[in-house]
Amino acid sequence: MLAAAGIVALSGTAQAAATTLGAAAAEKGRYFGTAVAANRLGEADYTATLNTEFSSVTPENEMKWDALEPSRGSFSYGSADRIVSHAEGRGMQVRGHTLVWHSQLPGWVGSLGATDLRSAMNNHITQVMTHYKGRIAAWDVVNEAFQDGGSGARRSSPFQDKLGDGFIEEAFRTARAADPAAQLCYNDYNTDGANAKSNAVYAMVKDFKQRGVPIDCVGFQSHFNAQSPVPSDYQANLQRFADLGVDVQITELDIEGSGSAQATNYANVTKACLAVTRCTGITVWGVTDKYSWRSSGTPLLFDGTYQKKPAYAAVLTALGGTPDGGGNPPGGGTGSCTAAYTTTASWPGGYNGQVTVTAGSAAITTWEVPLTFTAPQKVANSWNGTASWDGSGTVLTMRPSYNGSLAAGASTSFGFTVTTNGGSASPPAVGACKVS
Ligand code: XIL
Repeated sequence: MLAAAGIVALSGTAQAAATTLGAAAAEKGRYFGTAVAANRLGEADYTATLNTEFSSVTPENEMKWDALEPSRGSFSYGSADRIVSHAEGRGMQVRGHTLVWHSQLPGWVGSLGATDLRSAMNNHITQVMTHYKGRIAAWDVVNEAFQDGGSGARRSSPFQDKLGDGFIEEAFRTARAADPAAQLCYNDYNTDGANAKSNAVYAMVKDFKQRGVPIDCVGFQSHFNAQSPVPSDYQANLQRFADLGVDVQITELDIEGSGSAQATNYANVTKACLAVTRCTGITVWGVTDKYSWRSSGTPLLFDGTYQKKPAYAAVLTALGGTPDGGGNPPGGGTGSCTAAYTTTASWPGGYNGQVTVTAGSAAITTWEVPLTFTAPQKVANSWNGTASWDGSGTVLTMRPSYNGSLAAGASTSFGFTVTTNGGSASPPAVGACKVS
């Protein structure tokens, strides 16, 4: 009886698809986070988007060494504390970023001799982790300790140069002692596919696990653009690290680009994480394109006016959520759209059609366009939309796949290939575009 009641309750909660990134990720047992800048928390749209969509935050700069311990032994936690309190007040978890890194490191650290440097490093880790004890889900204990390129060597830094390879192990051991409840991560970039650098990190993590050096997770920054695209073995690379017995997390995701190309990349990264059981969450490196560290590449999920981009819908859909929440009418029926048809190619026996959907004077989150084909034409293939046929097999309704969210006046297109089947080659009758 109890078991049966439990099943009913579960199926009851599964009805409405999640409508935000955080809620959709939670249904998959994961978090969806963003980097946050303390000095933006006063901007209403920034904070509203943060609070609505995200379930985890990473301070973008506020927990770096130069921010927390600008001079030796004097700690300033104000900005970092603001972010942590904001997160805690809203049930978001916090990733701590980052304790030991060669960059954003105050000059005084680099001028210490080895003995002093060792105690300064351990003191920094201990002080900071104690300040936040029990409040940080995961710490990036060491960030970017390996060189780019084919050498697989450690990167030169004050820590590496004066303390040698062992500084990483020492940092992790000190971190475990300071806050045993926090997950301890190694974090890096250009380690997103198998290559000399990721192989070197892999060998280190394997060695740590074998020798009992405390490490719980590996972060993959995942900063992508045309020069550094999402590797084809992204999922396989996450999986091989997970197979070492650590969690993997996508920690600083941003993908330069726009439109459907960017959306597809984001969807692929999201799907890769979901396919790896130990991939426990995704963090994007900022809320809005306008404050991105790579702003000109528009690499994030919300544009400069906090409109959801196609990439947003692609991620939400990949997470199993739906931009309109599956409500009736979906999206609340606000806004308007128009549909315009063109034949983009034709040949004996067939043609390609394209429909451009344009939002009216308000942003929309979904649309649908009915197309009536002349029998015995058949639609062989369609793209950039989700096709559903009516009972008669002549009216095809196209709805968005990833491309439902359009800013005011913005457009998207879907297309299809038709075979005439010996009948006429007339294009379909295009019904009115509806925000349904
Ligand atoms: C970046 C921040 O986004 C910028 O605001 C800052 O000026 C430089 O650092 N790898 C990391 C992050 O681990 O801490 C970096 O963040 C981006 C690259």
